[in-house]
Amino acid sequence: MKRVAILISGGGSNMLRLVESMTGDHPARPVLVASNDPAARGLDRARALGISAEAVDHRPFKGDRAAFEDSLRAVLDAHAPDILCLAGFMRILTPGFIAAYEGRMLNIHPSLLPKYKGLHTHVRALEAGDAEHGCTVHLVTPELDDGPILGQARVPVMDGDTPESLAARVLVQEHRLYPMVLRRFAEGGRELPLYT
Ligand code: GRF
Repeated sequence: MKRVAILISGGGSNMLRLVESMTGDHPARPVLVASNDPAARGLDRARALGISAEAVDHRPFKGDRAAFEDSLRAVLDAHAPDILCLAGFMRILTPGFIAAYEGRMLNIHPSLLPKYKGLHTHVRALEAGDAEHGCTVHLVTPELDDGPILGQARVPVMDGDTPESLAARVLVQEHRLYPMVLRRFAEGGRELPLYT
């Protein structure tokens, strides 16, 4: 059975879908939900499901990323995860931290990578007049939002869309795609990306 740790910064709706999917004959189980923000709503949601939830507040480290990450790694490694899932985790990780979990750290990003790496993806897709938008699950590498793609889901951009309405349509696909990709990854599947 693969052990999965999930990192969040906010409400954790993706985290919840991942946790809910890891039941029955699923080859993995959640062992920890961790956050850089002690006030992240997702921590209480994880605790309500009986999952260990811990916070390592990044603010007291005053920008010392290495020190913050050392503390985060200590919390993570105490749960010996096989797989890490970034789910709305908003801290940029250093190459050193990424190297420690190389090839087993996944992230979900709300755009059709390689388009719109970074922030404000929905505004940028609307400003560009795109007909399609979506989300991507990829392996995390030192280059931000650049790792090998494991899966993508597409949505139409509709007339009258706002960043909020588009984000909501993409989030529905995120909640479908991430559990599908995690299951396949935990089963050892490394074949072609999943397109839905
Ligand atoms: C999601 O849209 C995710 O793609 C992005 O941050 C949002 C987090 O949502 N990185 P939640 O915390 O999983 O609800």
